[in-house]
Amino acid sequence: SVVEKYLQPFQLSPETLQEVSARLRKDLLRGLGKHSHHKAPVKMLPTFVRATPDGTEKGDFLALDLGGTNFRVLHVRVEEEAQKVLKMDSQICAIPQEMMLGTGEQLFDHIATCLGDFLESHNLKCQTLPLGFTFSFPCEQLEIDKSILIRWTKGFNCSGVEGKDVVQLLKEAIQRTGDYHIGSVAMVNDTVGTMMSCGYKDQSCEIGMIIGTGTNACYMEEIKNVKRIEGEDGRMCINTEWGGFGDDGSLDDILTEFDVEVDKTSINPGVHIFEKMISGMYLGEIVRLVLVKMTKDKLLFKGQISEALGTSGRFETKFISEIEDGLENAKKILTELGLDWGLVDASVVCLVCDTISSRSAYLCAAALATLVNRIRNNRKLDHLKTTVGVDGTVYRKHPTFSSKLQKAVRLLAPQCDITFLVSEDGSGKGAAMVTAVAQRLAHQSRLLEESDGEDDDDEEEEEGQ
Ligand code: BGC
Repeated sequence: SVVEKYLQPFQLSPETLQEVSARLRKDLLRGLGKHSHHKAPVKMLPTFVRATPDGTEKGDFLALDLGGTNFRVLHVRVEEEAQKVLKMDSQICAIPQEMMLGTGEQLFDHIATCLGDFLESHNLKCQTLPLGFTFSFPCEQLEIDKSILIRWTKGFNCSGVEGKDVVQLLKEAIQRTGDYHIGSVAMVNDTVGTMMSCGYKDQSCEIGMIIGTGTNACYMEEIKNVKRIEGEDGRMCINTEWGGFGDDGSLDDILTEFDVEVDKTSINPGVHIFEKMISGMYLGEIVRLVLVKMTKDKLLFKGQISEALGTSGRFETKFISEIEDGLENAKKILTELGLDWGLVDASVVCLVCDTISSRSAYLCAAALATLVNRIRNNRKLDHLKTTVGVDGTVYRKHPTFSSKLQKAVRLLAPQCDITFLVSEDGSGKGAAMVTAVAQRLAHQSRLLEESDGEDDDDEEEEEGQ
């Protein structure tokens, strides 16, 4: 049909998806390589998370979560006996749009103030709790508490932060409040938090994936393959930053004119190309652009573009989920967008939404297949059984996204048996988990050092760092 002509460029065959997966496989290697990683589009960032939880972690923690739908402050308790991570309290602080595009100092002052208010209202000010900072942007991590922002993504673009140590900026802002102290800090990408929060329950959870405002995944890699850090035994969690896949042009052949347009009008043109085909920040806008074109060509809405449909950002990604959930929702949304629709219009809109969200699910599947196949090859296994911790509004809220993704991964990685675990508040609880594991490892190595020297001081209280 005529409609098909518009949608066909979004339809990726299984062979194309396999090709996408193969390209990503090469890019993972480039990102890991000693000399190639500087220029690699898929950054493969070491996270300094060397172990998943072993179930002995415990204690109280603070967590900050920046980079998803909301900025949040949390108080989290990890209970050893119950093997549970409890969210004690949490609070959402809005970050106004202007602040997302303002100065870094303003942003961090705001964060420090929100944290202070939270401590005050929950009577935690007198304690010095360790803090897990889920900061969901690509960072070059030098230590668990030293993390340089490579670039902002999603809606953020604050000045004076790229190239700086985010932990330092946070600490300085807290000092400026002059009001409270925090303990040791652990920096966490949301993918890592997601993996770690599932890992407390299921110790075979070795991948974390986010399909929300942005998209990304992390996984446990053999340290000997991470050529840019000193070769050692064991594994380290690598934050792939797969959103940057395609930034060197490697996906140009599958981009549509609409993807090109979305990229051009974004606040970070030319980068995070893969993310812009997949994540919640962009899907609604892709659909809008397709609908606008079809309307201009008189295929929809009697050729009339309403003001809302003509305005970028007005077709929200959550509309896609709602529309695909039922024709009645579609009608309601089209009316709200001021469109003069008929039944055919409504069903074409459903089809457009389905096409764009399916492509997103299939591209994620291709990327995830690359990761599980890599883990399987690393371990020289014929068959791998593993668990993926997942989070993100697109994955959670869309009616068919997760089942499409799962089905496609099974096709693309037939030798892998994958369990998907939706993480309950990974970026909050996971940040606490990472902090807890870091403390456990630090404690263990201190005990080792001490037993090398004098006798052990029994049960020294953990002080962080
Ligand atoms: C960021 C990642 C993050 C992902 C999901 C991307 O834009 O670069 O660090 O994990 O969004 O939030």
